[in-house]
Amino acid sequence: MKLTILGGGGFRVPLVYHALLGDRGSGRITSVVLYDADPSRLSAVAAVLRQQAAAALDPPVVTATTDLDDALRGADFVFSAIRVGGLEGRTVDERVALDLGVLGQETVGAGGIAYGLRTLPVAVQIAQRIAAVAPDAWTINFTNPAGMVTEAMIPYLGDRVIGICDSPSGLGRRAAAALGVDPSTAFYDYAGLNHLGWLRGLRSEGVDRLPDLLQSADALTSFEEGRLFGADWLRSLGAIPNEYLHYYYFARETLAAVQGVRQTRGAFLLEQQAAFYAETGEHPEQALELWQKTRAEREATYMVESREVADAGERDERDMAAGGYEQVALSLMRAIAHNERASLILNVRNRGTLRHLDDDAVVEIPCTVDANGALPVTVSQLTDHQAGLVCAVKAVERSTIEAAGAGSRSAALRAFAWHPLVDSATVGRRLLDAYADHLPGLARFRA
Ligand code: G6P
Ligand code: MN
Repeated sequence: MKLTILGGGGFRVPLVYHALLGDRGSGRITSVVLYDADPSRLSAVAAVLRQQAAAALDPPVVTATTDLDDALRGADFVFSAIRVGGLEGRTVDERVALDLGVLGQETVGAGGIAYGLRTLPVAVQIAQRIAAVAPDAWTINFTNPAGMVTEAMIPYLGDRVIGICDSPSGLGRRAAAALGVDPSTAFYDYAGLNHLGWLRGLRSEGVDRLPDLLQSADALTSFEEGRLFGADWLRSLGAIPNEYLHYYYFARETLAAVQGVRQTRGAFLLEQQAAFYAETGEHPEQALELWQKTRAEREATYMVESREVADAGERDERDMAAGGYEQVALSLMRAIAHNERASLILNVRNRGTLRHLDDDAVVEIPCTVDANGALPVTVSQLTDHQAGLVCAVKAVERSTIEAAGAGSRSAALRAFAWHPLVDSATVGRRLLDAYADHLPGLARFRA
């Protein structure tokens, strides 16, 4: 089996490779092709992978290329994990919004729209190349904003493109562990959009245990989302939100916290990653060690402002044994390749599952996966509150997709102005103009 990784010079690629090294089953991935536009990033990451492979038995063979079609030819699976505009772009996404008094974040609010406008044309080109060169491949999209990017690729790839994220499974796993339930046996009644979903039930041995969790203050303070949102608010909601909903439910506080930091997340990572790639270029023999050190710092500072707002203290070790997004990707590939039925929370077309949304809307819900791909399973319907937020943000996503496809200023303006975290159409217009001035890819949206 051949896996092509788009964004193969990305910092998280060693996580994926590590997951592959742990897969000893037949039909596993034996060949990995790294594709990236930047050859120096490719060679740094290839050096990390070589050192990971040194200790392993029969590791997947790794090759690297800067030619997209070469990379795609013969692929069984394509992972798309690109960052258009790099971390420089991420810092602009953040800064422009913060300067106009609204949240600037990688995937949420104005920052996510700017990131989407920049990324969607590239994602569409990639989808077209996959359809032409590797039409039988399955594409696993973790390019953010993952929901809208997946939706924009579907016209070219149909249901052979599936979006993934680590946050829903992480939430489910943490909630199950807080209840003393084996996470692999539970059913998670989770639904929404990417980075905008809620855990509304957690069934174990036929019983919904979420009410027990919401009752127990001790259990709630034992895990990340419990501390982030607080027992009182969680009980009132009757559900446990994805961690990204902290930016909505505590909009004022998270905005102030993000505005108050010396460096945004993007600026911190830009500095940190630049050092990693430069040092690895100079000392490739230390690539793995440098990567591990950089990764530990990155993990320790994840969503730190939100944790400060909530006074949630130290973040739990992101449960490495169970794994993050790379384990979601590996489980998905195995279920498809071996026709081994698995239950995973994924970004797929709604197909009638959530009645507030049309069939083609990409939603994030539990799916049954086998050789035929991922099929949504029945979950409870969204409440009026959840549906209101989900439909508002879906309209934003679709305006962004329309704007990126047609180069339409008015669609882009709607996207910014309609976002629940942008409180004025005037600010929406200022955001669009400022992004168009600061991001080369968005100059076409100038008035
Ligand atoms: C989680 C989310 C990803 C997001 C990442 C940001 O893993 O699911 O979608 O890209 O966090 O982490 P970072 O370290 O880049 O801030
Ligand atoms: Mn995600």
